[in-house]
Amino acid sequence: MVITSDTEVRQIAIDRPTAIPLLEEFGIDYCCGGQQTLAQACAKKNLQIAPVIAALEHESHPTQTATDWQTAPLHVLAEHIVAKHHGFTRQQLVLLHALMEKVEHRHGATHPEILATGKALSALAAELTHHFICEENILFPYIAKLEQEGQAALPPMFGSVSQPIQKMMMDHDRAGDELRHIRTLTNNYQPPQEACTTFRALYRALEELEKDLHQHIHLENNILFPRALELSKARA
Ligand SMILES: [Fe+2]
Ligand SMILES: [Fe+2]
Repeated sequence: MVITSDTEVRQIAIDRPTAIPLLEEFGIDYCCGGQQTLAQACAKKNLQIAPVIAALEHESHPTQTATDWQTAPLHVLAEHIVAKHHGFTRQQLVLLHALMEKVEHRHGATHPEILATGKALSALAAELTHHFICEENILFPYIAKLEQEGQAALPPMFGSVSQPIQKMMMDHDRAGDELRHIRTLTNNYQPPQEACTTFRALYRALEELEKDLHQHIHLENNILFPRALELSKARA
């Protein structure tokens, strides 16, 4: 694939996973906003398109990763998402909760942005916890059954797989908004000069959470869900 200004950002992330760290660096949304073209994404970030294309062409390349998620069985992709990304997020939320408690206690009075960040993080954590349960207990098993046995074998739980997928994608949009809100509150995860080690660790851990969620949502919005919808049509 040649990257041009008209290439959809999601396609770059799908075809060239090695471009993902660069997209993160440029602040380009490739998960919830993955359907925008590279030109639109650059315009939003006030980036000149030519150097962005040059950097993407130079730094990334089509890879033969261990698993090609465009062709791997869907249940394998879903298991990978749960093990890698749900697992990481759950661990990171525990760490973040402990760090946030300390930083709020020590610096909340002089840094009100920390209290606002703590509130936003609690809301995000509650939503993600519920979202993961829905995916793990309902949607992902449904997709696995659809793949293995076809539409006819499924109880008419949702009418169609598209309904729970739409609901999950709406959750992703909301999580994306909340992450942007946290990024703003934390000044792009830049701690104040006088910040202690725990304060710095908190911001670093928040940024790691954001990065992983972007990759996680990309795998669902841009690969797992479109492939499940295609399969559902083919097996109807
Ligand atoms: Fe997920
Ligand atoms: Fe999800």
